[in-house]
Amino acid sequence: MTVFCATLGSSRPFLSRVSPVFLKRMTETRTVALFSIARGGNLPTLIVLALGRKRLNSISFRSLLNLVPVELRWLATALRPVWTLHAASFLAFTFGSALGLLGPLVLRWLIDRILPGRDAWLLISAVALLFLSYEGRVVSTSLGSWLTVAASQKIVLALRLEILKHLDSLSADYHEATPTGEKLYPLREPVDEIAYLGSDLFPGILRTLLSTAFTLFAMGALSFRLTLIVLPLVPVFLVTRHHFRQRLGLHADDLQGKRLEVNSFLEEHAPSVIQIQSLQQETRRERDAYRLFAKAARSQLRLARTGVFFSIFTNLAIVLAISAILGYGGVRVLRGDLTIGSLVAFYSYLAQLFEPLSGAMEMYARAQRTFSSIRQVRAALALRPTIQESSHAVRLPCGASSDLEFHELRFAYPGEKELLHIPRLMISVGERVALVGENGAGKSTLAKLAARLYDPDSGYISYGGVDLRAIRLRELRSVAAYLPATPVLFDDTLAVNLRLGRAQATDEELAEVLHAVDLTGFVESLPSRYQQPLGPGGSRLSSGQRQRIALARALLRKPRILILDEATSSMDAAVEQIVLDRTRLLLPFSTVVLLSHRLSSVAWADRKIVLEAGKIVRDENIKATPESGGNSEA
Ligand SMILES: Nc1ncnc2c1ncn2[C@@H]1O[C@H](COP(=O)(O)OP(=O)(O)OP(=O)(O)O)[C@@H](O)[C@H]1O
Ligand SMILES: [Mg+2]
Repeated sequence: MTVFCATLGSSRPFLSRVSPVFLKRMTETRTVALFSIARGGNLPTLIVLALGRKRLNSISFRSLLNLVPVELRWLATALRPVWTLHAASFLAFTFGSALGLLGPLVLRWLIDRILPGRDAWLLISAVALLFLSYEGRVVSTSLGSWLTVAASQKIVLALRLEILKHLDSLSADYHEATPTGEKLYPLREPVDEIAYLGSDLFPGILRTLLSTAFTLFAMGALSFRLTLIVLPLVPVFLVTRHHFRQRLGLHADDLQGKRLEVNSFLEEHAPSVIQIQSLQQETRRERDAYRLFAKAARSQLRLARTGVFFSIFTNLAIVLAISAILGYGGVRVLRGDLTIGSLVAFYSYLAQLFEPLSGAMEMYARAQRTFSSIRQVRAALALRPTIQESSHAVRLPCGASSDLEFHELRFAYPGEKELLHIPRLMISVGERVALVGENGAGKSTLAKLAARLYDPDSGYISYGGVDLRAIRLRELRSVAAYLPATPVLFDDTLAVNLRLGRAQATDEELAEVLHAVDLTGFVESLPSRYQQPLGPGGSRLSSGQRQRIALARALLRKPRILILDEATSSMDAAVEQIVLDRTRLLLPFSTVVLLSHRLSSVAWADRKIVLEAGKIVRDENIKATPESGGNSEA
């Protein structure tokens, strides 16, 4: 097959003799093989194949595109909005590279003509030209670099926001199963690495390509024979690069993985230090940390070692070129075939040719890390939320009953055995239900299903007769509020934290919900009242106060179903009763489902449902009110 391709690649007349139908069939049937050979370095073959017959164009163009690494294609799409900045930077680099050609030519003029001719005015002109050439090149390429930094920062801004939005769209299963460090990782190093690719690497590649082309052209014009000595070293450089490419990629991916583990560990460790101290587990945690740090360091070393071999072997090509040029060029000067000025100018070009090439090696190693980052970001963006809005999602019909019903529901966490089986359960509008059971019975899971944080595996849950999966997510989230035991408060003022419940809430409404959670007196006593900062995670409050503020925020939304998953567990029993009673007054038509292990809070409810190993084993009225009927099958 290789021979076949090579023959095709080397001879266009041959192509024209081959029947187009035969070629098309060959290309269709052997496309993969042809391309894999082309990937192995026989790119011209493929290009000739693609150009050989118009009939092949459509197949080959797409396949040629496939030769571009997917990471670069992704980057090209990301860079599209800032192409004008990149175009301006390209012009600046082109101009800079063209100016770079001037210097060695002036040098040759200086050595071969001006100095022997002892012409002072020409000497001043030559120095001015040299200054213009070298300084102009720096100014121009620096401007080019600045423009690409500006472009890449725009991209990074958009990318960070995109990843954050994506993170916000993912469902509870992902957030509960993924360590914080892992979730945040794509927003950190990978995005910075990608910024590097845009700001340093692309201009670097551009600089390399331009100055290589320009310099080779100038070298050819100066001495064709010397250029012929240099040219074969370019494939040596490419072959060496290809050899190390895969290893560098693998090691870069491994390093990213290790960094991610370190990040996850630290994300978990930092907020837990107080607990770790009280458990006297510092040494064990430090030992674990050392293991992870060491793994990351070893991985970094492995990558650096491969980079070193990469540099050594590719530098060999450069050193060989310099030795050959100086040796052979020196002989030609001695013979009088070449002027000293030409040899000096050629040597300067040689430096100009290999300086960016050696930089390119560094860049290549770095680019592998960046490609790995792109893979990470792409993987993060490829995650899909498991809870999605159906394209036929509806608003809840006005005036529909708001009963919450479970029908033949079965649920298991991914990879686990069945946890819940609820044949039928109805909770009527306005009911106060206490859901009780042992640890691990499945209460929280049932509550999360009712708030559609998870979807059942079979059966369904309906609200007002409408399957939850058919209700628009925004509407569902304003109808049903799920409050966990650990409240989420942000490092901001009390008012800001409360208004996360409803942004337009007036001060009177804030006062109303604060009264409901019996915090009026406490807030009055705060120096800045509503503007009081709560500290990170609400750290300036007691845990009971944190739960009360989280409940006040939920009450501001006036949900029709309020699910309190041990959300009152840190309140003292007397306050809990007050808060629950006032909640009843504030939301007289809302259903409240309370998950609790406390007898006093269960006593507050109208109905008690007992869950055992994922099944309802008891369902009873505990207040003899006519409207609160037990109507489920246990
Ligand atoms: N995200 C999860 N992934 C896998 N398994 C889970 C997950 N969350 C809970 N479980 C398992 O499901 C079972 C029920 O958990 P659940 O939180 O519903 O219990 P619970 O009745 O609320 O218990 P508790 O009274 O302790 O709050 C437990 O055995 C638990 O290990
Ligand atoms: Mg629970």
